[in-house]
Amino acid sequence: MSLPQTQQQILLARRPKGVPVAEDFALATGPVPQVESVGPGQVLVRQIYLSLDPAIRGWMNESRSYLPPIALGAPVRSGTLSQVVHSTVPEWQPGDLCQALAAWEEYSLVPAQQLMGKITKVPGIPLSSMLNVLGGNGLTAYFGLYDVGQPKAGETVLVSAAAGGVGSIVGQLAKLRGCRVVGLTGSDDKCEWLCGELGFDAALNYKTANLSQQLKDVCPNGVDVFFDNVGGELLDLVLPRLALRGRVVVCGAISEINRTEPGPGLRNVMQLMAKRARMEGFVTLDYADRYAAARDELAGYVREGALKTRDEIVDGIEHAPAHLLRLFSGDHRGKLMVKVADPS
Ligand SMILES: NC(=O)c1ccc[n+]([C@@H]2O[C@H](COP(=O)([O-])OP(=O)(O)OC[C@H]3O[C@@H](n4cnc5c(N)ncnc54)[C@H](OP(=O)(O)O)[C@@H]3O)[C@@H](O)[C@H]2O)c1
Repeated sequence: MSLPQTQQQILLARRPKGVPVAEDFALATGPVPQVESVGPGQVLVRQIYLSLDPAIRGWMNESRSYLPPIALGAPVRSGTLSQVVHSTVPEWQPGDLCQALAAWEEYSLVPAQQLMGKITKVPGIPLSSMLNVLGGNGLTAYFGLYDVGQPKAGETVLVSAAAGGVGSIVGQLAKLRGCRVVGLTGSDDKCEWLCGELGFDAALNYKTANLSQQLKDVCPNGVDVFFDNVGGELLDLVLPRLALRGRVVVCGAISEINRTEPGPGLRNVMQLMAKRARMEGFVTLDYADRYAAARDELAGYVREGALKTRDEIVDGIEHAPAHLLRLFSGDHRGKLMVKVADPS
């Protein structure tokens, strides 16, 4: 098979200070790894979709998180949906679709262990959904809400960043369990979308005044499960609204990841004691042995029309940085992705 000699790559040009900006990235032209260069245990993949997630921001810092930082001058990395071009390991054959952790370039040489599972197309569901509702976002919503939040019918579930990739699925899964669902998001339009199209019972724009009073009004019996994607001041504001034996699911803290100085911290932690409440974090990767069953359940909801998702996909790897920045401006609904190529 003949491959092009050169490809586009998106490099980390410098480490962001605060919210990333376009100048933190550089579009470059690099060599395409050729079939002859695929060594033992390696697989040559072609990127089909890039998944744009808040975690990428953490990897752009110098400090190590659960993965090493992206090196300065190296391609940015993210979760991807990729297709095998050539392989030296029997488990992977040319044409296989896989979920991977791979570089922002068109073709990558990756160790086989960096491929995180084969993707089988699900009839009637677009391939891009394998990175959204049947991928990281759906699985995060599923395990965070059902396993950690443990919502019961009739309870009130509140979710922050409710119009985003994870949050929009959390709210609908809570409705499927018979809960009353309230979303917090950053614009009136998004509030309308949540209630009008996704079936949320109420949604509040957290940027408007008197949020605390509004929350009291829409959750008169308190919040039984708070699925928190935002952290910081919004989390602090919700803690006094917890119901007795409430649960706070710590999914993420997007309000904190661009801070250059420590935030003010939580002032209302003692509410956990007063309400006999539980606050628990989770990492979706810990549930890998249950992904297949969860995917089947989520696919069933999508087919029945009980779970609606939105993929905001931009074409062309060169647009990846600008599209990523929309995570922090809030200028999107649902899941952000970049389409790099069509699968063969
Ligand atoms: N625990 C895990 O294993 C795991 C796995 C995947 C993702 N996560 C976490 O899940 C959360 C959601 O991720 P996602 O990929 O679905 O992103 P997303 O919700 O699609 O996008 C982020 C949204 O957060 C809101 N936001 C951004 N900056 C904010 C700020 N300073 N204050 C308040 N809201 C802000 C914006 O919406 P608004 O218009 O509403 O402001 C934005 O659209 C993130 O915290 C992520 O780290 C955790």
